[in-house]
Amino acid sequence: MINNFNGLKVTSFESRRSSEMEKLISYHGGIPRVAPSMKELPIESINISDFVKDLSNNDIDVIVLFTGVGTRMLSGHIEQNYNLEKYVDALKTTKIIARGPKPVAALKEISLKPDLTIPEPNTWRDILTTIDEKLDINNKTVYVQEYGVTNKKFLNGLEERGANVKTITIYKWGLPEDLTPLNAAIKSISDGVEDLVIFTSSQQIVNLFSVASKQGLNDDLYDAFSKTLVGSIGPTTTETLENYNITADYEPDSPKMGNFVKEIARVSNKLLLKKRTALNLGIKTVNWKRTDMSWGENAGLKNGKVSRDSVFLRACNLEESDYTPIWIMRQAGRFLREYRDIRSKVTFLDLCKTPDLSAEVTLMAVERLNVDAAIIFSDILLILQSLGLDLEYSKNDGPRINKVLRSSAAVDSLVEFNPESLGFVYEAIKLSRRALNPEKALIGFAGAPFTVASYAIEGGGSRNYTQTKTLMFRDPGLWNSLMIKLTNATAEYLNKQINAGADAVQLFDSWVGCLSPNDYRDFVLPHMKKLVSLINKGTPVILFGTDTSSLLEDISDTGCGVIGIDWRIEIEEAWKKVGFDKAIQGNLDPLVLMSTQSYVKNEAKRIIDEVSVRPGHIFNLGHGVLPNTPVDNVLSLVDTVHEYSYKMNKS
Ligand code: CP3
Repeated sequence: MINNFNGLKVTSFESRRSSEMEKLISYHGGIPRVAPSMKELPIESINISDFVKDLSNNDIDVIVLFTGVGTRMLSGHIEQNYNLEKYVDALKTTKIIARGPKPVAALKEISLKPDLTIPEPNTWRDILTTIDEKLDINNKTVYVQEYGVTNKKFLNGLEERGANVKTITIYKWGLPEDLTPLNAAIKSISDGVEDLVIFTSSQQIVNLFSVASKQGLNDDLYDAFSKTLVGSIGPTTTETLENYNITADYEPDSPKMGNFVKEIARVSNKLLLKKRTALNLGIKTVNWKRTDMSWGENAGLKNGKVSRDSVFLRACNLEESDYTPIWIMRQAGRFLREYRDIRSKVTFLDLCKTPDLSAEVTLMAVERLNVDAAIIFSDILLILQSLGLDLEYSKNDGPRINKVLRSSAAVDSLVEFNPESLGFVYEAIKLSRRALNPEKALIGFAGAPFTVASYAIEGGGSRNYTQTKTLMFRDPGLWNSLMIKLTNATAEYLNKQINAGADAVQLFDSWVGCLSPNDYRDFVLPHMKKLVSLINKGTPVILFGTDTSSLLEDISDTGCGVIGIDWRIEIEEAWKKVGFDKAIQGNLDPLVLMSTQSYVKNEAKRIIDEVSVRPGHIFNLGHGVLPNTPVDNVLSLVDTVHEYSYKMNKS
């Protein structure tokens, strides 16, 4: 048994797989209450004669199969009333879309394979995205095997793409014959006895509230969700909860029952504490957002401030702590489905410029990954807009600066930096700091002048930094005047972030490793010394770069307290170079996270062994986490760093 729930009372409304659910909850240390909430009703009189007619006339271009049960019932119905062989033959010339693994399995039973499968989380939106990528349905007849209620949004989406849409409804959901367990569960939730309610389908929510309203317990049930943790198996269920004005407190990465219970078990005690703390502070937790949280006096915690004992800050200050802190560069990024969901609705720049949203994304990553620090969601290039440059993020080639900075006239025409032009960043920091647990530090950041200048001069990312170095070597005067402007703007910007609540700041000098040590000293170091000296005292400054092995002694001379390194150098060697009076951040190769969990664990342990309990190590990757990284591997990394370093410290 894995005791993650630690005795919490967990209610589920799973019907078909109720005994499996009960075992899962117990296995993870919860006290289960499983109250089946629905029953499949085959529609005896279902009318599929149109479908059969279209099928025999070869008039069906595409069929979308939503569920395994539905797929099986459809072929069963055809076998009894028509002719299964003809059906199978006809489907061979039809494009079959299977929403998930269950309809795929049901198809296999009749020796058919889908033409398209839908990636997780297999929602109707994912079906439309896959169709957009792979199938033209304009003027095509598309049949949809529906389940439960009709999904109008999906059908409209097909019609918008020019399809002639028809439906086959195979079954609907009814209430179970025996309502005793369901009524008992409603009573128990309403009385505040249950700690956690987990939903594994949308229909469970509909049925739950319809039974509760017959008992007059509708409002009691709704109110009870303010103190009960709410889990949702996936985006469609979450959307249904939202329609009932209830926030899902947790949704797993992949919508499978076993995975769902395993994941929510790990976080449930922490999330429940947070929810009940918020409720005590008068926050309306039944339909809250992460940014609604505040850690006020009543909770016995300091008001919206980081604790001086945060493991992250202790490591920045070279102080001992129970375990090694970890955060992950680009932790709030595309590898998280929650991020991609939000991003699918707004542009990257709008996300950065809407404090509510960027704070939400910042907090979401910390909650999901259990890292020890948040980093405010923003980008190092936004400052270029404030200086009057034309910045855009295109879908495939990353950032573009449309009028590049290559002449003295261009440098002269930069606008004077007004720190208020980045006010949305400070606002997002305020929101995030208030909502963050005091144990977690909040990191503000900016690009270092060299790296930001390289984007402005090249017009985007670069391989050899040809234009940057050409300008630097040919016209050192112009280079220095550009660096001075960027240095002053960056210092002002970071101090504003600190005043808004950032507990530490990181300077990203991602690409400075392309310089020789001599050029670093001539063209960069003086500006970096100046920049570090301008940053408010008492706030740790992390200076990060890649490929900097040969620059580390000089980077140490900038005066920053924490140095971020990549995987190309061993920590011990890097530490010797920068001096043991500095803290070190790093340095797992992000590609290790593409391997297996056991490989990830071993690599994490190897790095911790290398450091061998010297205070002042902040675990991180050597560069940002990549978009296709499996979330499970990242969770496993965070756990390993915490648990293994704790063990090493105590031994
Ligand atoms: O670490 C975090 O979670 C905070 C957010 C953050 C972003 N960018 C969000 C982002 C941070 C700290 C950055 C820093 C950044 N931005 C750097 C330095 C770190 C590094 O990776 O070297 C650089 C060079 C940039 C510039 C930048 N922004 C590039 C090159 C790109 C496109 C390539 C890419 O990785 O997508 C961006 C866009 C960007 N910045 C995204 C995110 C989440 C992806 C945008 C999207 O959602 O489409």
